[in-house]
Amino acid sequence: MRTQVAIIGAGPSGLLLGQLLHKQGIDNVILERVSPDYVLGRIRAGVLEQGFADLMREAGVGERMDREGEVHDGVEIAVNGCRVRIDLKALTGGDSVIVYGQTELTRDLMDAREKTNQATHYEARNVQPHNMLPDNTKEAQPYVTYEKDGRQYRLECDYIAGCDGFHGISRKSIPKDCITEYEQLYPGGWLGVLSDTPPVNHELVYVRHERGFALCSLRSQTRSRYYIQVGRNDKVEAWSDERFWSELKRRLPADLAAQLVTGPSIEKSIAPMRSFVAEPMQYGRLFLLGDAAHIVPPTGAKGLNTAASDVYTLYSILTKVYGEGKIELLKKYSEICLRRIWNGERFSWWMSNMLHKFEGTSEFDEKMHTSEIEYYLTSEAGRRIIAEQYVGLPYDNVE
Ligand code: FAD
Ligand code: PHB
Repeated sequence: MRTQVAIIGAGPSGLLLGQLLHKQGIDNVILERVSPDYVLGRIRAGVLEQGFADLMREAGVGERMDREGEVHDGVEIAVNGCRVRIDLKALTGGDSVIVYGQTELTRDLMDAREKTNQATHYEARNVQPHNMLPDNTKEAQPYVTYEKDGRQYRLECDYIAGCDGFHGISRKSIPKDCITEYEQLYPGGWLGVLSDTPPVNHELVYVRHERGFALCSLRSQTRSRYYIQVGRNDKVEAWSDERFWSELKRRLPADLAAQLVTGPSIEKSIAPMRSFVAEPMQYGRLFLLGDAAHIVPPTGAKGLNTAASDVYTLYSILTKVYGEGKIELLKKYSEICLRRIWNGERFSWWMSNMLHKFEGTSEFDEKMHTSEIEYYLTSEAGRRIIAEQYVGLPYDNVE
């Protein structure tokens, strides 16, 4: 078997890259470890930057997102019971975000791929990239091996896109001395609940509270997504729906707590909080994208959105490589991506520290965080800084 680009992983990064390349006539095959239902069952991101939404449209899969997604012109931050609205649109000169679930956009991308008969091999086991070094001899062409239904396969290709998330094989296939990893784990996690109840507010509310962080988010006018900060070793089994709702209520400003509609959870899970970057994001003809190369704590809603800027960069480079023969651009992939990535990392780290109450933080540092976030929220310049980053910085041009 042969293709131009072998993509490992059918999460949002792999599927979006595949669709954009297909639109440019660049052949690609996706290899995914689990089943489509398993991929769709992961409840994750909900907030899309304009840049992400534009890429979905460019890939020809933006129709349902534009119909069903909600455009949000503002977001709230509540500190010690006091709610402040960040007017994203006014502060950024017209930008906003779109609330549309990762599950929905993944489904749209999967459907589009199926309609155009592009190869996606689900439940592919022992996926392994080989010959990633940029050697043009025929013997050294990259290829990916995998197993499916008990049979061994070899997929030859020009390039490999590692879109297989934090625990995937792509990053691990790079020799240790060719990659540097930067990591910070936070002493806490996010317990998330999805419920078919009307959202407590029409916009997202990020809450800093004595008892810990909380977030009120939504998927639609009838489906809510709430999160509360929990301890590092907390287990989801210890959190009955009742306990979750009662803890959430205690953390919300009084007016929101009074208005909160509770109901049975339809999904409940704990996500760890981690900052992580691997540098460089390429090794010869293997390119790392999205969570395979970097992770942010979810506080700034930047995970999926930073993945989208990697997709944009590799897609733009490969279009110029195949269309105009500009192979020298390949070397620039990591450098272009990392400029934007580090900024997303910094914003997510800052938002996390400002809004959470972490075990081990000194009382003095807590006072500093309260003073800092209050300063940002009460100053228009401060609110603008938050707004600009929340809606997302522009993508760097590839040239
Ligand atoms: P993944 O979604 O992890 O996809 C990787 C795929 O590769 C998976 O399907 C996996 O099965 C497959 N795979 C793994 N190993 C192999 C292998 N060896 N062989 C083949 N396939 C393999 N981001 C935002 O921008 N906004 C938000 O509001 C937001 N909220 C979040 C809330 C939560 C609770 C969490 C946990 C995350 C959130 N994120 C958010 C982050 C976002 O979900 C991720 O950044 C995003 O899923 C990354 O996409 P990806 O395609 O790079 O990786
Ligand atoms: C979500 O709706 O799942 C969500 C929204 C904003 C975040 C993180 C998660 O910062």
